[in-house]
Amino acid sequence: MERFMGKKAGLVLCGLLVLAFFCAAETLVQGDTQGDIILGFVQVSAEGTWRMTNTKSIKKAAEEAGIHLIFREGENNYSNQIKEMRELIAMGVDVLAFSPSQVDVWDSVLEEARDAGIPVIVLDRAINVTDSSLYLTHIGSDMIEEGRRAARWLLAYMKTRKREQDEIRVAILEGVQGSTPAVHRNQGFLEILDQYPQYKIVQSEPANYIFSKGEEVMSKFLHLEDGKIDVVFAHNDEMALGAIEAIKKFGKQPGTDIVVIGVDAIKKALEAIMKGEMNCSVECSPLLGPQLMEAVRDVVKGRPVPKRVVTVEYDYDETNAAQEFPNRTY
Ligand code: AHR
Repeated sequence: MERFMGKKAGLVLCGLLVLAFFCAAETLVQGDTQGDIILGFVQVSAEGTWRMTNTKSIKKAAEEAGIHLIFREGENNYSNQIKEMRELIAMGVDVLAFSPSQVDVWDSVLEEARDAGIPVIVLDRAINVTDSSLYLTHIGSDMIEEGRRAARWLLAYMKTRKREQDEIRVAILEGVQGSTPAVHRNQGFLEILDQYPQYKIVQSEPANYIFSKGEEVMSKFLHLEDGKIDVVFAHNDEMALGAIEAIKKFGKQPGTDIVVIGVDAIKKALEAIMKGEMNCSVECSPLLGPQLMEAVRDVVKGRPVPKRVVTVEYDYDETNAAQEFPNRTY
């Protein structure tokens, strides 16, 4: 009897262990990784080369660092992101990180994280909050500077063009309205160009960082301006590549008749530069995973982290795109 009871107890214990295993497994969803430190991360969206590369970088780095990643995504909508962040706060993650879809709107949810004693890391895009102590660090590009870099590149390039023009007519394909890259890249670009009255912004409209929308909006601009556009500055490469298609369909030569500038420096943009269809891409690196994991480890160990970590990036044009092309993985 005693032996039977021992056997029975053993079976019950086994059953409990199996149950515990399945319960634990259920809290992980596809893409989550396991480890001692629990990091909750809320991504902006799932679309586009840049974003997908960024997600891969985060997941791979978490796995390599042995950090348990609970990965969520907001479908380009800040209320979805806030909902996901609240869930992660309720789960009691060790660190909460997110890539914000919008510049503003984060104060309340970050206050909730602070009240729960959860440190917050902002990745990629910057945010505006009334109290900057609501987050520990921001790791990512300086997007105002990216806009300035695009404008400085344009000024230098136009000096090398033989044709003297009284007026240089510029069109802008903006990112999602209210998003940091759209707000900051525009700010930096205009801050420089406004000092040169020769440059005139003739059209500027959102194309939401998407290839098809870039093509659609650029086609509209070309028809509205009767083809009289000298430069298009797109807030990312996907839209710049879409604009190239629109320019070709309009019967003009991208890269020659119309100067095309994008941001990100994805492989397809470098290829377009090598073909002479695009002129410049200002790099914005999505490979932020390793820096994020390093910061998470430091935060958990109580080590100081810098308030701002700016990604090191370069500009690519006909002088260096071919050299970089073989190294580019995205
Ligand atoms: O936040 C990074 C920016 O967002 C990238 O430039 C763009 O491609 C993405 O949508």
